[in-house]
Amino acid sequence: MSQSFDVVVIGSGPAGYIAAIRAAQLGLRTACIEKWKTPAGQPALGGTCLNVGCIPSKALLESSENYERVMHKFKVHGITATGVKFDLPTMLKRKDQIVGKMTGGIAGLFKKNGVTWLQGQGRFVSGGTTWKLEVIGDTGTETIEAGNVIVATGSTPRTLPDAPVDNRLICDNEGALAFDAIPKNLGVIGAGVIGLELGSVWRRLGANVTLLEAVPTFLNAADTSIAQEAWKLFTKGQGLDIQLGVKIGKIKKGRSSVTVDYTDAAGVAHQSEFDRLIVSVGRVPNTQGLAAESVGLKIDERGFIEVDKNCRTNLPRVFAVGDVVRGPMLAHKGEEEGVMVAEIIAGQHGHVNYDAIPWVMYTAPEIAWVGQTEQQLKADGVEFRTGRFPFAYNGRALGRDEPEGFIKILADARTDRILGVHVIGGQASELIAEAVVAMEFGASAEDIARICHAHPSMSEAMREAALAVDKRALNG
Ligand code: FAD
Ligand code: NAI
Repeated sequence: MSQSFDVVVIGSGPAGYIAAIRAAQLGLRTACIEKWKTPAGQPALGGTCLNVGCIPSKALLESSENYERVMHKFKVHGITATGVKFDLPTMLKRKDQIVGKMTGGIAGLFKKNGVTWLQGQGRFVSGGTTWKLEVIGDTGTETIEAGNVIVATGSTPRTLPDAPVDNRLICDNEGALAFDAIPKNLGVIGAGVIGLELGSVWRRLGANVTLLEAVPTFLNAADTSIAQEAWKLFTKGQGLDIQLGVKIGKIKKGRSSVTVDYTDAAGVAHQSEFDRLIVSVGRVPNTQGLAAESVGLKIDERGFIEVDKNCRTNLPRVFAVGDVVRGPMLAHKGEEEGVMVAEIIAGQHGHVNYDAIPWVMYTAPEIAWVGQTEQQLKADGVEFRTGRFPFAYNGRALGRDEPEGFIKILADARTDRILGVHVIGGQASELIAEAVVAMEFGASAEDIARICHAHPSMSEAMREAALAVDKRALNG
């Protein structure tokens, strides 16, 4: 007899594994199907985020930042270090160990919560009062039954027709997290989040990095003032060569290099030779191998599974969460959806507030925001007041040698309700949490201004920016 579950989750990235754990916590008999294998052929949970995304990239960002600190930033503290070297294999091994700990941690969490891990590829077979699914594993195909299905099959890197990824010379995120040597000249197509984060890693370790970006403006999604500050810091300050408004032409792979033809914003033709090329031009939803069409699961023209605000698909008791559905492709957005869906299946009132999902770019300095940008508010005709406070006036920032950047709060001109918070500076990824809490609670700028913030701390800049909304910053 085939195994039967209340909930079967397909995919164990942050959206899927969190959905499975929450469903099991709520007393539902739950399984999670996952097909991922490590380069050594070991089955692994955690999806893109844990294996080749958020977690390994942050490990390398930290290692490369430490190297940059010791090489360029310690001097001002009176600390000199001679003979400093880095060992790339050790750096990569540390990253892999962190990944192993985290993915193994999910296996432990599954055990603790009673989630059954079914190893292999999941696909729909038929519907009815229960869903029939197949799990195609190494040793054969198993048919299982599910009362409810949560599709969490994630996304894959978008590719360019002229740039076939071999993860040796032309790399997607997976290859770019595992270079076996520092390229002398690294090309990156796409100056988005991956391009800037991984471009920064390899620049700090010694590569000349050129980013070729199609769009003529930098960091379109960010608040314009943040994008302008970031542009200054990343180009003049750090030496990233970012070309905007380019049109990529022929890409030719040689034996040990890649040649890229492109025209710049002025229409001038260039040819650049790179030891390695990263292609980071966005990601596409992944529904391959699901047999979605066999059961009539609706997929939109861009490849996303169609869902309503509660992540319900067009099929009864089939939900979809994470990168495979609309909304930002962020781990924490998928996690929220996973929890919401599990709670709905259990008869509760799950809910995601899509207006309060933070964005973070782990560059140095970090960039983080939540809510609306100034340009969005202007386009919507919303009247707002702005409070801005620079880290250069914050004692903790100076002590940490992180005077760059600022916090900017946008508040409704009439009600003072916070509409958006934008940070560029040290610890922005942590500072933004206060803004998310404030927005979730419908706080006004004055609410933050009246809260006692520890001194000296970077978070005081948040309070000062809130005071600045009312033109009464105390320290600047
Ligand atoms: P995924 O993590 O893609 O997981 C989907 C899983 O489903 C995979 O394990 C896949 O093997 C499995 N699967 C697919 N089809 C099947 C099938 N038919 N049967 C069985 N299993 C299947 N986001 C952040 O919020 N913060 C960050 O710092 C961050 N950094 C990133 C850095 C990089 C380099 C990259 C590439 C991404 C980063 N992201 C980050 C984005 C983040 O990784 C994704 O938003 C997140 O992983 C999406 O989670 P998911 O569960 O929807 O899908
Ligand atoms: P992205 O959408 O951030 O950036 C892609 C960039 O490539 C864009 O600026 C786009 O204009 C450009 N582009 C597209 N086609 C091009 C072409 N033909 N030539 C030149 N430029 C071109 O996507 P990215 O960096 O690939 O990352 C994918 C997703 O992964 C992100 O959107 C994000 O959701 C997630 N991610 C999140 C991180 C975080 O939260 N810190 C870190 C890394 C990834």
